Amino acid sequence: PEKVKNSWVCENCGNVYGQWWGSCRSCHTAGSIKKFSESEVSRARGAEISDAMVRSWLPEQSRTLAPLSLVDVNMGRDQSQWRIPLSGHFGVEVSKVLGGGIVPGSLILIGGDPGVGKSTLALQIAAILAEGFNFNGPVPVVYVSGEESIEQIGNRAHRMRITTKDLFLYSSTDIEDILDKIQKLSPQALILDSIQTVYLRGVAGSAGNIMQVKECTSALLRFAKQTNIPVLLIGHVTKTGDIAGPRILEHIVDAVIYMEGERCSAYRLLRAVKNRFGSTDELGVFEMSESGLQAVSNPSQIFLSENFSDSEVLAGLAVAVIVDGSRTFLIEVQALCVSDSFVGRQFNGIPQKKAALIISVLMKQAGLKLQDNAIFLNVVSGFELTETAGDLAIAAAICSSFLEYPIPNDYAFIGEVGLGGELRSVPRMDKRVIAVAKLGFKKCIIPKSAEKSLSLHDLDLEILGCRNLKEVINAVF
Ligand code: TYD
Ligand code: MG
Repeated sequence: PEKVKNSWVCENCGNVYGQWWGSCRSCHTAGSIKKFSESEVSRARGAEISDAMVRSWLPEQSRTLAPLSLVDVNMGRDQSQWRIPLSGHFGVEVSKVLGGGIVPGSLILIGGDPGVGKSTLALQIAAILAEGFNFNGPVPVVYVSGEESIEQIGNRAHRMRITTKDLFLYSSTDIEDILDKIQKLSPQALILDSIQTVYLRGVAGSAGNIMQVKECTSALLRFAKQTNIPVLLIGHVTKTGDIAGPRILEHIVDAVIYMEGERCSAYRLLRAVKNRFGSTDELGVFEMSESGLQAVSNPSQIFLSENFSDSEVLAGLAVAVIVDGSRTFLIEVQALCVSDSFVGRQFNGIPQKKAALIISVLMKQAGLKLQDNAIFLNVVSGFELTETAGDLAIAAAICSSFLEYPIPNDYAFIGEVGLGGELRSVPRMDKRVIAVAKLGFKKCIIPKSAEKSLSLHDLDLEILGCRNLKEVINAVF
């Protein structure tokens, strides 16, 4: 009879144990250890496959598995070819998030909630790469889907008006089969949708389980490194991380990009959370359309609701100034305080702890009687406001709703709120204030301590420095 070997794997970090544990000894997650059985036969086969496959992926001349001189490795490499650039507004926006383009031989994970638009994004990237010219002329790009048939991908491409003949489509879930077919085409990039649908023969379990995700990703990494073909890998990853493998995936791949956005909003944000070849502080902003994603050049437009152009101003609205990556933009914070109501609180787009803290400071340090109010907070367009520079706008929005006194729609707020109700300076004040002036705002409330260090001239903007929340309330309301 076949010998069965059991192993216990942490679903969170992928550590393998010889026995079950109540919580993972590596990442300390409770209840994350799951049992896997694999027969000795399939294990042996798995090992054999990996080695044979690895060798077959190697270009002929580098099959000698020995160290190579740097000069030989880099021979003939044109410096400008180091990253594959993406053209057009959309391409430039994506490139920025990737740190300037796609590094040959890199494995990039595109994560995000199901339905957020990952497949659309990936197909668009594939099309741009296929349309672009390499120094040798057109080079194919392959888009492989384990989720959709080639007809479905074709339909999507048709809707998006993609027509390039250098884009190749393939539908398969067998990694070995995929990599074998790809190698023959020798494309400039491989897009794989998604890691949860592919499997490696000889590895225990069905597609999507932690062992498969781990082994398939490792196989793709080896493939990318040895062929120098960059691989864009899509992964369904929820914010709470409850789909198998996000953490493990992040550890294995070279770069991780997350696509964010609310279902009901047409805007999508792209953010690098890991990048072995570049910085991770760029943000891409896109708008969805029938023909795919369009880059948004002025994000402030989308984070300010229509109310801001109206002459009639509502209470409970305040504008914050955010710096994200190289972008500075204004976003609207909305607050609703309802007295004599059930006392509930709901915060959308603002971290629970931050909101609770600001409300407490307003009660204690500014004397606002918020305790009998239901308080709702919201940020327009599904943006998550985590930066401390937004504290003052949150506080101002709450004051405005509570006092039922609208803030003029040409006011903006910048500053961190301390526990004593004091306002603190935040980084890059100059940049923020310039953004406010550029968008035609007339008054900007900032911490007093930041006022003197501002080095701005000739701005058509009144700057008002305040020491604490009480001063802000006296000045604005
Ligand atoms: P899809 O790319 O399939 O999401 P995911 O792969 O993350 O599950 O996109 C979901 C739906 O949204 C799909 O019906 C296509 C549509 N969509 C557009 O019409 N335009 C767009 O710009 C995007 C991003 C998506
Ligand atoms: Mg998809």
